[in-house]
Formats: sequence, C-alpha cells, structure tokens
Amino acid sequence: MQSLENKVAVVTGAGSGIGEGIARAAAAAGMRVLVADIDLAGAEAVAADIGAQAMACQVDVSDLQSVEAMRDAALAHFGAVHLLCNNAGVWLGALMADADIKDWQFLINVNLYGVIHGVKAFLPLLMEQGEGYIVNTASMGGLISGPPEGLYTTTKFAVVGLSEALLMEVADKGIGVSVLCPGLVDTQLTTKSFEVRPDALDSGIDHQQPAPDTASGLAPLAVGERVIDAVRDGEFYIITHDDYRDIIAMRHQGILDALDAQTRRYGSTSGREL
Ligand SMILES: NC(=O)c1ccc[n+]([C@@H]2O[C@H](COP(=O)([O-])OP(=O)(O)OC[C@H]3O[C@@H](n4cnc5c(N)ncnc54)[C@H](O)[C@@H]3O)[C@@H](O)[C@H]2O)c1
Repeated sequence: MQSLENKVAVVTGAGSGIGEGIARAAAAAGMRVLVADIDLAGAEAVAADIGAQAMACQVDVSDLQSVEAMRDAALAHFGAVHLLCNNAGVWLGALMADADIKDWQFLINVNLYGVIHGVKAFLPLLMEQGEGYIVNTASMGGLISGPPEGLYTTTKFAVVGLSEALLMEVADKGIGVSVLCPGLVDTQLTTKSFEVRPDALDSGIDHQQPAPDTASGLAPLAVGERVIDAVRDGEFYIITHDDYRDIIAMRHQGILDALDAQTRRYGSTSGREL
C-alpha cells in the first residue's frame, strides 16, 4: 500500500509498547489512526499525544463482538479502514508441566483469537473495498521455540501460520498481509499482561519469572517505523532483529534433514497431493 497519506489505520494494543510505536509511525506517515486497547486510559493518552488525526477506543480482542464494535467505531469516525494491525498480545513464561489450563486459555484468547477476530471482523470490509492491509504481530517466538515459552510460542506459531495462509488467500484481491516477528522490544509486556488478565483466567500460579529482559530490547517506535515501511513495500515477514539467524537456520535445517532421512529410508513418497 504505497500511498498512506490520509488513509486509516486501526491498531490494537496501541495503549503502550509496539502498538503505540505503530500508531505513532502510522500518524507520522500521514495516516489517521484508531488507537485501540483494553486499557482505555492508555489508549486515550496515546491518541491525545498524537493529536486530532487519532481517536482512542476500548477493545477486548478476545471478544469478537468487542472487535466488531471497534470496527464500527472506526467506520463511523473515519469512514473507512485501510490498515488493520492485530497487535494486542500477552505473555507468560511457564513450563507445560506446570501450566494450568487457564494459562493456555488466557494466551490463546488474546494472542490467537485476537488475531482471528480481527480477520473475521475486518476482512470482508477490506475485500469489499478492494484495498487494504493486515499486519499480525507474532514474535521471533513464532519462528523458534523453547522453554519456558511453550505456551506463548504455541500462539505465535499459529499467528505465523494463519498469516502465511491469509497472504496466499488474498494476494490477488488487492489486500496485503505482513507478519511481525520481533525479538526483544522495550515494552511493558511482562508486567502489563498480568494487569489486564481477566480474574477468571488467573490460575494463581506466578508465571512472571523468569521474564525475558525486554528492557534490553529495541525501541517500540523503531519497530513501528519498520512496520510502516513494510506496509508501504509489501514485505510479508517483518524481521526486526538479525541475531536469531543461526537458530532459525538450525530449525529449518533440522526439517530438511528429516526430509532427506525420510527419502533415504523409504524412497521417494512424492506424487500425493497435500
Ligand atoms: N516486547 C517484546 O519483546 C515482544 C517481542 C515479540 C513480540 N511481541 C508482541 O508484541 C505485541 C505487543 O506487545 P508489547 O510488547 O508492546 O507489550 P505491551 O504490554 O506494552 O503492549 C500490549 C498492549 O496490548 C494490550 N492488551 C492486552 N490484552 C488485550 C486485549 N484482550 N484486548 C486489547 N488489548 C489488549 C495491553 O493493554 C497493552 O497495552 C504482543 O502481541 C506481543 O506478544 C512483543
């Protein structure tokens, strides 16, 4: 989507962190922005600081009706939506052996259903317009995994898979798709997640430690600017950190090695359609 001037962006989780960075970068590119977050005070502070081209909105991305209401609020105020950033997310660190089913539900409801609800509520609108762009925030944890991030990376791998399929589905319909896969970014993720967690999904287990050292990460605005560049250039994978190259290569080499081992042991099994 090369021309962003005066277009409309809806960014979830924009009351702080990466979402705030995307909202600010979108506004700097001349876009009008719906700053949406479950934390209304946070969203209002960001929107007020951006100025008249921004509006705040409360949304709970784990609730489809709430996401549909956000879409309707954006349409009522701005008249259109061109860019949707499904960015809201939460984190907890837990070994699967220790995690409660509520911990799984909390992460899946926000990190995966949040993206699904965004796609469900906005894709028909973008398709009707014949123009639009969706950016889904996954993580480097959507490309590589390891304890104690198993629950979190389960949701983020799913967001990468969803985004890859969505790209292929809408590529010829004038709709762009990107998936954002950052490493550490200096945000409130490891504390705010527990502030916004619904009481009903509080397992009572302290999953805050060991938390990744997000304070050592990139500035959220720098990530936001990368996202806006990717939207302009139609880049699918938005990779903000190059320090995970060897681990990604190792993972993919392991898959290729398994393929080769299969062929060596059983011969070619091609010819069957996926
Ligand atoms: N910080 C990192 O190092 C890092 C790395 C990779 C990916 N990410 C991803 O980036 C995204 C943004 O996180 P962040 O690091 O900016 O953290 P953050 O906590 O600063 O921002 C996340 C925002 O999402 C909001 N939110 C949480 N649950 C919500 C819900 N149900 N509905 C609406 N809003 C909700 C929070 O209130 C918060 O303002 C997340 O998807 C996260 O998984 C972060």
